[in-house]
Amino acid sequence: MSFKGADVVSIRDLSREQIEQVMDLAEELVPYATGEKSTRAMEGKILGNLFFEPSTRTRLSFETAMLRLGGRFIEIAQPQSSSVVKGETLADTIRMVEGYADAIVLRHPHEGAARLAAKYCSKPVINAGDGAGQHPTQTILDLFTIRQQANGIADKNVVLVGDLKYGRTAHSLAEALGMFGANLMFVAPPLLQMPKETIKHLEKNGITPRLSSSLEEVISDADILYVTRIQRERFPDPAEYIKVAGSYRVDNALLREAKKDLVIMHPLPRVDEIAPEVDHTDNAKYFHQAFNGVPVRMALIMLVLGGEL
Ligand code: CP
Repeated sequence: MSFKGADVVSIRDLSREQIEQVMDLAEELVPYATGEKSTRAMEGKILGNLFFEPSTRTRLSFETAMLRLGGRFIEIAQPQSSSVVKGETLADTIRMVEGYADAIVLRHPHEGAARLAAKYCSKPVINAGDGAGQHPTQTILDLFTIRQQANGIADKNVVLVGDLKYGRTAHSLAEALGMFGANLMFVAPPLLQMPKETIKHLEKNGITPRLSSSLEEVISDADILYVTRIQRERFPDPAEYIKVAGSYRVDNALLREAKKDLVIMHPLPRVDEIAPEVDHTDNAKYFHQAFNGVPVRMALIMLVLGGEL
């Protein structure tokens, strides 16, 4: 199945077979991602990394991925140092970078920005997060981590907890987990529950998620606990944020009620939703999850640019 030249804007653009193809290649690329093996598969290629919103993991792991593949990158890491401050439109910026790079990675605060960029660009565009919309590369690395750490995805009980309304990683992940046959439980205060549109999409595909506002109520059933940060920056009204801030905290006391081999994940950054004491347990997989961004993004770059090891 050829990915060459394709855009990766939404997880809905990819079939289950295509996601499996990315994960299988990522598995093969792990020793290259750690530096144990080396490759020049992307020698001569340039990745255009355009980040109009803050990022640590996504930006650095895309850069690491390209460097580990022997390629190079150009970037906008600080929007205020680009001509956007002079009023240049996203469409014009994309038209420029298309002439400088072989593929574009875009993070943008506006939902739909990556789709717009793909419309104006003849080269592959990879969505690195668009507002409260989608974050498909995070979703693939999350699925990859679940497959690796929980020995598969089908029939696993996955609890998504926290800000399921504004947390874009939760939207893409819920849809993808449904595609892979996981059982879904959404835990959030009513104000921050999963958007109706995502729930409808799941139901249309025969999946009925369980909804709750109590983590204590579902923790003993969970195989995977996927924790998300309350996205303060996306609340239109700070008073609404104050009502829900600190709603959930995963700590060792909570883990006493959980399965021994529970896998705890978090797309990061975290604020206070996972206590630092949890970092020392065998359940904590979130830093390894962040590392998995490198082999998964290496795989995606190779597939859209058509490289070989
Ligand atoms: N998970 C994630 O997208 O992290 P960054 O915002 O640091 O890229």
